[in-house]
This record gives sequence, structure tokens and C-alpha cells, in this order.
Amino acid sequence: MSLPAKRSSTALFLKELLNRPRQVGAVLPSSRKLARAMAKWLPVGTTDHVLELGPGTGVVTEALFQRGLRQEQLIAIEMSAQMADHLRARFPRANIVTGDAFRLDEIVREQLGPHARIAMVFSSLPLLNFEPSAADSLARQIKAILPPKGKMVQFSYNVANKQPKAAAHFEVVASDLIWLNVPPARVMVYQK
Ligand SMILES: C[S@@+](CC[C@H](N)C(=O)[O-])C[C@H]1O[C@@H](n2cnc3c(N)ncnc32)[C@H](O)[C@@H]1O
Repeated sequence: MSLPAKRSSTALFLKELLNRPRQVGAVLPSSRKLARAMAKWLPVGTTDHVLELGPGTGVVTEALFQRGLRQEQLIAIEMSAQMADHLRARFPRANIVTGDAFRLDEIVREQLGPHARIAMVFSSLPLLNFEPSAADSLARQIKAILPPKGKMVQFSYNVANKQPKAAAHFEVVASDLIWLNVPPARVMVYQK
């Protein structure tokens, strides 16, 4: 991304942060290092669709495309209408939905039809700001949409590695601390 485009992404992120701090749940967009630490879990050559929750201004989204995902393979659900518009301008062939990740099942079926196959889920949702019952319900929905052994990659600022809310529904297969982010973050990989 060019420097002016990066500045406009960061400005939009900060504006949305001021308007909706709990929803945005981060002081800055993720670093490229964090985005790459998430995207590396996408197997090269994946042909099914991939679901991204809470893409924001698209740092993780971009890393997924750099990993080889085609834009047409991505469904991204972003609650902020302005961020979703920004993503549509950046990635015109991707399926960017302005909506609530808690409606993911319905949204995926609307986008792909009843026989949709989602290979993986990447989430940057601020789960630590969600009520435990809401986080639990989301984890169940994500599990239901994944194939057997399917993975969900989630980052959070749970640096101390307390028992994450999704852990009850999945096997934890990796937990990587990424220091080069503001603030440092943890990438958790869950397997169905
Ligand atoms: C921590 S930011 C991460 C943004 C970006 N992925 C990054 O890593 O820089 C969380 C994002 O999740 C979005 N979000 C929060 N709750 C959401 C929900 N229920 N459904 C969809 N998006 C949501 C916010 O608007 C914000 O863009």
C-alpha cells in the first residue's frame, strides 16, 4: 500500500476508534508482522472460501491476499460501514459485507448459497470486550461453519495467555506472542 493510502487507512481507523471505542477495540491497526503471523496459517493453494471477521481497514485482509488467497475467495464481515466501504475500494473483487459477525451463518449463506464451504476463519474481533455468553455463542457459530479439523485464527491482547473464551469449543493448536505490535498481541489458532 502506498504511504498516502496507508495514512488514510490509519486516519479512518482512528476516527472510528473515537466514535466506537469498544467496537474497534484497538488503539491502532495491526502491524504487518501481526497480520503475517495470522495469514501464515492459510495453507497455500486453498481453493475454498475463507471468512474474515472484523477486518477493519484491511491489514490482515491484505496479508491473506499476499499469501495467495484470491479476492473472490474472501467473505469479510465488518460492522463499521465506513471501514467496509474503505475495504470495498481497496479490494473490489472481495465479498465485503457491512454487518454483524454474530449473523455469520446467515451472511455466508446469503453470499455463497446453502452449500457454502468455508475453509478457515480469521478473526480480529475484540472478543475481550464481549460478554462471555456472546463470545460463547460466536465460537459455536464459527465451529458449526468449519469443516472437520478446520481452523480459526484469532488475535487478541491476551498477552498473559489467560484461558481464552473460545478454548472450550476447540483444540488450541498454537499460541504465538507477537511483540512487534502496539500493543503486543497473541495469535491463537484453534482447531475443530
Ligand atoms: C481490533 S479491530 C481489528 C481491525 C483489523 N483486522 C486489524 O487487525 O487492524 C476490530 C474490528 O472488528 C470490528 N467489529 C467489532 N465488532 C464486530 C462485529 N460484531 N461484527 C463485525 N465486525 C465487528 C470493528 O469495527 C473493528 O474493525
